[in-house]
Amino acid sequence: MMIPQEILEKIDKNRQRYVEELLGFLRIPSVSTYTRHAQDVRKAAEWVLHHLKRLGLPAQLHETGGHPVVTARSPFQPDLPTLLIYGHYDVQPPEPMEEWITPPFSPSIRDGCVYARGATDDKGQFFTYLKAIEAVLAVTSRLPINVKVLVEGEEEIGSPNLEGFLKRHRTDLKADAVAVSDGSQFSRGVPAITYGLRGLSYFQIDLQGPRIDVHSGSFGGVTANPAQALAQVLAQMKNPDGTVAIPGFYESVVPLEAWERQELAALSFDEGGLKAYLGVDELPGEPGYTVLERKSARPTLDVNGIWGGFQGEGAKTIIPAKAGAKVSMRLVPNQSPSVISALFKQYVESLTPPGVRVTVTELHRAEPVLVSRDCTGIRAAARAIEIGFGKTPVFIREGGSIPIVNVLKEVLEIDSILLMGWGSPDDGPHSPNERLFLEDFHRGVRSAAALLYALAP
Ligand code: BES
Ligand code: MN
Ligand code: MN
Repeated sequence: MMIPQEILEKIDKNRQRYVEELLGFLRIPSVSTYTRHAQDVRKAAEWVLHHLKRLGLPAQLHETGGHPVVTARSPFQPDLPTLLIYGHYDVQPPEPMEEWITPPFSPSIRDGCVYARGATDDKGQFFTYLKAIEAVLAVTSRLPINVKVLVEGEEEIGSPNLEGFLKRHRTDLKADAVAVSDGSQFSRGVPAITYGLRGLSYFQIDLQGPRIDVHSGSFGGVTANPAQALAQVLAQMKNPDGTVAIPGFYESVVPLEAWERQELAALSFDEGGLKAYLGVDELPGEPGYTVLERKSARPTLDVNGIWGGFQGEGAKTIIPAKAGAKVSMRLVPNQSPSVISALFKQYVESLTPPGVRVTVTELHRAEPVLVSRDCTGIRAAARAIEIGFGKTPVFIREGGSIPIVNVLKEVLEIDSILLMGWGSPDDGPHSPNERLFLEDFHRGVRSAAALLYALAP
C-alpha cells in the first residue's frame, strides 16, 4: 500500500514541533554505564512510556534487573502483518566535556543540526517512529499494519538483560519484521539499507605488579613493572602489517565473496572525506582490503583505553603497582564471541611476563550478523526510503554492533530485519558534539511512516 499524501503533508507541517519534542528527550542524561545516572536512565524510560501512551498505544515499563524495557503495541488487527520497532533510549558517556561546544544534555540547534548526546544514537532516530505513528493516527485513526515497540536502556552496555526479556516475552513480541534505525546513511544524501553488523568482544586487562607503588631506584632492576608489561602485551596484539596477531583469530571468518567486493567497490567510498573527518593522513589496516571493506566487513582489534602509573605534572620515580587497558575486537560472521574470548584470554596470559599478575575480564559481547537482503520486508524498506529520502537506497554493512539484532533473529525467528540508518556517517555518535541533521530527522519520520504503509498488503 502507498502512503496517503495527506500523511506526508502532516509530517511536513509538524516538522518543527517534532524537533521541539525531541529536545525534551535529549535533555535526559540517560548514560547507562554510570550507576550514578540510573535515575536519569529510568526518567528516559518513563519519558518514552508517556509518549507512547499519549499516542494512544497501550504501553508498559518492565523491570529487568538492570535498566527498564518499555514496550507498546497497537490494537491487534487480524490479517495484517506485524512490525516490531526496536530502539534504545540509553546513551554513551559524554566525556571529554571540554570538547563540547554546547553541553551534551542541553540540546542546541545550529547549522541545521541538533547537537546533543543521543541526537543520532539513538534517541533522534528511534523518535522518528513515534512521530510517524502519531502522524498516521492523526490522519486515518488506525495503523495500516500491527505495530509493536521495544525500547531498551542497556544497548550501550551490551544489552545484558534483553535476551532474557525476549525469551520471557517471546509470544508477545512475535512479529513478521523488525525495524531498527540505529546506524546511518552511506553518506549524507545517499540512504542505505544495512545488511551486516560486526560483532564485538570487549575486555578489560588488569595487571598487578608490586603490592604498592615503590621507589624505582630502590626496586628497579628486580621488580616486574606492570606498565611495561602492559605495553609489551598490547604491542603484540597486532602484527606490524595491521592484522590481528591472536592465534586462531581469523579461523572462522567467512571470506568476502567476489560479488560483494564488486558491489562495495561500486559504492565509491570517499576516503579523502574520511581522512578529513578524522584529521589524519593515512587509513591503515589489513593489507589486501579496501577501506570500506576494512571498516565494515573485516574483523579488527582496538585498544579503547589505557592507564597505569604516574600521570601528574612533572616526574615521579616509581614502579607502579597497577596498569590496565580496555581492548575490543570487532567480529564478522562466523566468528563467535565465546571462541574469541577464550583465544584472547589465553593469548594475553601467555604474553604476560613473570612477576606480574594478570586478570582478563570480559565486559560485553555481541554476535556478528548478516541479514537476508532478499525478502518482501527489504523491498518494502527500499520503497519507504525512496519516499522519505527521494533516493533509492544502497546496500551496506556497518562496522558497529547492535547486540540484540542477532538475538531477534534467533530467538524471535524474525528473518525480515530492516536496518535503516537515518543519520549521517559524520554525526559523531560516541564523540563530543554528536549531532543529527534536522533534514535527516525529517526524512527519517517520512520514511518511517512510509514503511508502515509499504509493509501493508
Ligand atoms: N548505534 C550503535 C551501533 C552502530 C554504530 C551501528 C555505527 C552502525 C554504525 C550502537 O548504539 C553502539 O554503539 N553499539 C555498541 C555496542 C556495544 C556497546 C555492545 C558498539 O558498536 O560499540
Ligand atoms: Mn545505537
Ligand atoms: Mn552507540
